[in-house]
Amino acid sequence: MSRRHQFRLPNKVKFQRALLAWFAEHRRDLPWRHTSDPYHILVSELMLQQTQVDRVEPKYREWLEKYPSVEALADADLNDVKQTWKGLGYNIRPVRLHSIARETVATYGGELPRSAEALRRFPGIGRYTAGAIASFAYGQDEPLLDTNVRRVLFRIFVASGMMKSTAMEHHLWEVAARVLPKGQAWEFNSALMDFGAMQCTARTPRCATCPMAAFCRYRRAQAAQTGRKGA
Ligand code: ADE
Repeated sequence: MSRRHQFRLPNKVKFQRALLAWFAEHRRDLPWRHTSDPYHILVSELMLQQTQVDRVEPKYREWLEKYPSVEALADADLNDVKQTWKGLGYNIRPVRLHSIARETVATYGGELPRSAEALRRFPGIGRYTAGAIASFAYGQDEPLLDTNVRRVLFRIFVASGMMKSTAMEHHLWEVAARVLPKGQAWEFNSALMDFGAMQCTARTPRCATCPMAAFCRYRRAQAAQTGRKGA
C-alpha cells in the first residue's frame, strides 16, 4: 500500500466527469435531498446508518412531522422518541439522536457544528456521518466513505488487496478526499452513493453499461482473468 499522498490517481478527471454525468441521468429523488437543514440531514444519516433507504423514507417523514427541529427533539421525552423510532431497529440510535439534539441546544445554540472534526465528538457520529453532514448540509469539501462508496473506489482505483483491511480503509479515505472536485461535494458524494447502490452493485455490477468501464481496474482485472480462462 502506498503511503499517504504518494499514490497517483491517473483517471481522476475522467472519473469525476463520468460520475457527474451518470448522476445527472440516474440520480435518486430522496426526501433528504430537498433540504440542507443540518438537523434533517442528521436524522436521515442516523436512520440510514443501518437501515435501507426504502424503509427509512416513511420514517424520516414521520419523524420530522413529530420533531421538526432540533429544539423539538431536545424537548421531547426520551420514551416518546424511542417509540417514534420503532420499526427501524438498532435502538441505540434514537437515544443518541436525542442526546445530540440536547447537546446541540445546550452547547451550540441549536446549530450543529459545521466542521467534520467537531461533529465527530458526538457519540453516534462517526467519520462517515460527519462527512455526510458537513458535505450535504454545509456544502463543505469533506469526503465520505460508506459500504457502497468504499466498493466503488476500491474497484475503480485499486482492485487488488483486501478491500476491508484497515490499511485499505485508510487508503480509500484518502482516495475519497483526493477525487472530490472542490466545491461540488454535495453532488459528488450523492453521486458516489447512488452509483454504488445502482450501478456498481456488490454482487452483480452492471459493467456492460458502466461509463467507467474503460478505465476501471476491477473491470480490467476481470477481463484479464476471463481472457486467461478462455485461452
Ligand atoms: N446511505 C447513507 N446515506 C445516504 C444518503 N444520504 N443517500 C442515500 N443513501 C444513503
